[in-house]
Amino acid sequence: MVVADLGCSSGSNTLRFVSEVIGIIARHCKELDRRHDRPPQLQFFLNDLPGNDFNNLFQLIEQFNKSTARKHKGEAESGALPPSYITGLPGSYYTRIFPSESVYLFHSLFCLQWRSQAPEQLKGTKKTCLDIYITKTMSPSMVKLFQQQFQKDFSLFLKLRYEELVSGGQMVLAFIGRKHEDVLTGESNHLYGLLAQSLKSLVDEGLVEKEKLESFYLPMYSPSVGEVEAIVKQVGLFNMNHVKVFETNWDPYDDSESDVVHNSIRSGENVAKCLRAVMEPLVASQFGEAILDKLFQEYARRVAKHLENEKTKHAVLVLSLKKPIHV
Ligand SMILES: C[S@@+](CC[C@H](N)C(=O)[O-])C[C@H]1O[C@@H](n2cnc3c(N)ncnc32)[C@H](O)[C@@H]1O
Repeated sequence: MVVADLGCSSGSNTLRFVSEVIGIIARHCKELDRRHDRPPQLQFFLNDLPGNDFNNLFQLIEQFNKSTARKHKGEAESGALPPSYITGLPGSYYTRIFPSESVYLFHSLFCLQWRSQAPEQLKGTKKTCLDIYITKTMSPSMVKLFQQQFQKDFSLFLKLRYEELVSGGQMVLAFIGRKHEDVLTGESNHLYGLLAQSLKSLVDEGLVEKEKLESFYLPMYSPSVGEVEAIVKQVGLFNMNHVKVFETNWDPYDDSESDVVHNSIRSGENVAKCLRAVMEPLVASQFGEAILDKLFQEYARRVAKHLENEKTKHAVLVLSLKKPIHV
């Protein structure tokens, strides 16, 4: 079975998905008590953009293989542990990355909110410093360009994966979306709006050129369930098995369900570290590395202030799609 994780990154979370799949299949084979049948062989492909730190990832794989052998010693002895082979696959998932009908399961976590690029038509368009992502003051035609970019990217993604999946193959996709249909009131609008304000404060201090901020757009879009369902339906290639929205606190270290932020300064710093981990290469390529520390300190301060008034959460969309079996 070929299984692929799209947008895997190279940190300690990367191999969790692989570990889950191996564990599930080993348990399943143990339950079936396959004394004579051998478990399926698993080929994992870990995909990310070519700039991802694949060297680090390969070192993690080496340690992971050793710990998997220790963890599943019992299943290995009873012959239920599926042999697994893990490899890296650099390339954008907005292109073909597998031969036709070769993949059984695609997984992608926290990636599909990234667009393939900021909308082409926005290049050279005059905007205010604060409009790096959708804001309430942005012109409706500009908002539409962000939406259209998502529609274009997501339909392309579905068509490409359809080609690559075996008949009956499945995808589990989770990414940052929006709880409400109104495109102007998403939780991401706050998150990126505070980044825009922080960048603007560096413009006011003379540390960032105004023109650079005026031409900067985030290649992101957080869709609603309705938007995602409409595209899946329009593309018409997949059955939607399941779709759900859940919420997670902006501060990844705060797993309480209460509506109170206990330490807004610390939460502000945690959110800033998270956003920095995700955005640093993009911000550095537009504004240079010299501003990064100051920018994210300012951002942490603004997030802390925001969280004092309102504990904000990300809306995460999870969908499970199946390519119909052709008989
Ligand atoms: C927030 S990280 C998520 C990493 C990992 N899936 C996790 O949940 O810990 C998003 C990843 O998506 C990758 N990514 C963004 N656009 C991509 C594309 N077009 N093709 C492949 N990977 C992409 C980024 O390089 C980054 O590593």
